[in-house]
Amino acid sequence: MIDGKKVLFSGMQSTGNLTLGNYLGALKNWVALSDEYECFYSVVDMHSITVRQEPAGLRKRARNLLTLYIAAGLDPDKNCIYYQSHVSGHAELAWILNCFTYTGELNRMTQFKDKAAKHADNINAGLYTYPVLMAADILLYQADVVPVGKDQLQHLEITRDIAQRFNAIYGDVFTIPEPYMGKAGANIRSLQNPEKKMSKSDENANASIYLMDDPDTVIRKFKRAVTDLDASVRYREEQPGIKNLIEIYCACTGKTPAETEKEFDGKGYSEFKLAVGEAVAGVLKPIQDRFYELSKDKAYIDGIIKKNAEKADYYAMKTLRKVQKKVGFPERVR
Ligand code: TRP
Repeated sequence: MIDGKKVLFSGMQSTGNLTLGNYLGALKNWVALSDEYECFYSVVDMHSITVRQEPAGLRKRARNLLTLYIAAGLDPDKNCIYYQSHVSGHAELAWILNCFTYTGELNRMTQFKDKAAKHADNINAGLYTYPVLMAADILLYQADVVPVGKDQLQHLEITRDIAQRFNAIYGDVFTIPEPYMGKAGANIRSLQNPEKKMSKSDENANASIYLMDDPDTVIRKFKRAVTDLDASVRYREEQPGIKNLIEIYCACTGKTPAETEKEFDGKGYSEFKLAVGEAVAGVLKPIQDRFYELSKDKAYIDGIIKKNAEKADYYAMKTLRKVQKKVGFPERVR
């Protein structure tokens, strides 16, 4: 609890460019949570280097991501928006938690197995202990809730196991976090293969709408989106391509699938795809305008980075000092 509010922690990696899926599935909902929770939203750049990164590119994407958090509506005075690498407590707690995590547990992580297969030439120890750093992120702020997608649930589960194990030995040190799954619906799929989720790291640029895509690009990508054989706009499991487009349309217009079916009754896919493209472009426009405006104001963004890193550091250190004492590190004399 901070000032009588429950604590919420979440983060995104600064790898690749944010997609419409990240926005509708996460970021947009985060904005609505700022009043109810004390929120920490980290740009988790330390997680990013578990996969080889080009330094200048990483730095630029991290800054863009932080700016996009604000452009998408997160008020940086209410939400602690900061770089993970600016708060040393993450690495320090991660080391301690490494000593309370079993290799057997890490061996079971499906994301590690997937990434190890994908980056067979660089299966580094950081990739292996990635979930422990994530546990440190969450536990450092005594988070009560963590909004995550399905693919991160296993990491949240191991975070809870580590916290419970630690608490069982040392007493009530960590708050046990709960997943916050949010509203159903905004589970945006790839435009080229609705079996897969829309992903920042998809190699096919036509599969994802990026938040910074201009209207022409957005409309072109929707034109090329895979649909189904039955040329009707129906919200059904058997038509995963069109179902995904309907969900995107609904998320952007506030309409329901039933209303959408009615609106496009008797109309073809091309008309519908154009409407989806226009709705999405309309949602992205104000975010992009704000992003470009903010990007020009270097001093303002720098100020936020500094102020929020200090705030995050304050809470992180409170937990870290307690943990260091519990495990038996010598008292600090400076
Ligand atoms: N691993 C998360 C992802 O790739 C990002 C992340 C890092 C995170 N630390 C976190 C998410 C803590 C929630 C809480 O999506």
